[in-house]
Amino acid sequence: MFAIAIDGPAGAGKSSAARAAAKKLGFIYVDTGALYRTVGLYMLRQGISLEEKEKIVENLPGAVIELRFLSGEQHVFLCGEDVSGEIRTPQVSMAASAVSAIPEVRRFLFDLQLSLAEKNNVLMDGRDIGTVVLPHAQVKIFLTASAQERARRRCLELEQKGQPQPYEKVLEEIQQRDYQDSHRAIAPLVPAEDAILVDTSDCNLEEAVERILQIVYEKLPENTIDF
Ligand code: DC
Repeated sequence: MFAIAIDGPAGAGKSSAARAAAKKLGFIYVDTGALYRTVGLYMLRQGISLEEKEKIVENLPGAVIELRFLSGEQHVFLCGEDVSGEIRTPQVSMAASAVSAIPEVRRFLFDLQLSLAEKNNVLMDGRDIGTVVLPHAQVKIFLTASAQERARRRCLELEQKGQPQPYEKVLEEIQQRDYQDSHRAIAPLVPAEDAILVDTSDCNLEEAVERILQIVYEKLPENTIDF
């Protein structure tokens, strides 16, 4: 099996570029953030406070999570219910961030991620894929963009949603989250030693996808992949 690990901070265009690259390669695209979001949603539904780490750990076995690929798109199921839409709210983002800092939660999701990579050619995106989950991935990419560019993109997105926010405030939040993510005790967001850095500050989505594919083809000659 072939594995491509793409890590990087939020807002670097990781998921759009990763999804498009996986489609071109005929690989399964696994968005691991969705798993942390689903654990977060489960805890919110159980009425568990995000401060209560012990309760979160105690309740983990009840979170029955399954990924299914319907028409090539990843859907995440929680206890049999498709929650792919519901995990995208700001409240669930906060919950995902909180639960992802708990070692037991990371361990809980580890096997699920690994078993997908054992059975399929995967392009997996997250924060610790190249460093922790798939340290032997044939291709590792760290996709990033400057905090300023990510803030600019986020402002545009918020404006389009009719929820404009001042640029300075958005930038400050991004810088704060970057600091938290890269300094947390467990699985911090750092590039794997053998990851190739792709900076998307100056490129659009198509160019980012092209860059990813170029790296993949350099490492995995096309005729070695069973399309
Ligand atoms: O990529 P995302 O925004 O959907 O991720 C949701 C949260 O999960 C985010 O706070 C980072 C965390 N996460 C993680 O710690 N490790 C991963 N492999 C993927 C996501």
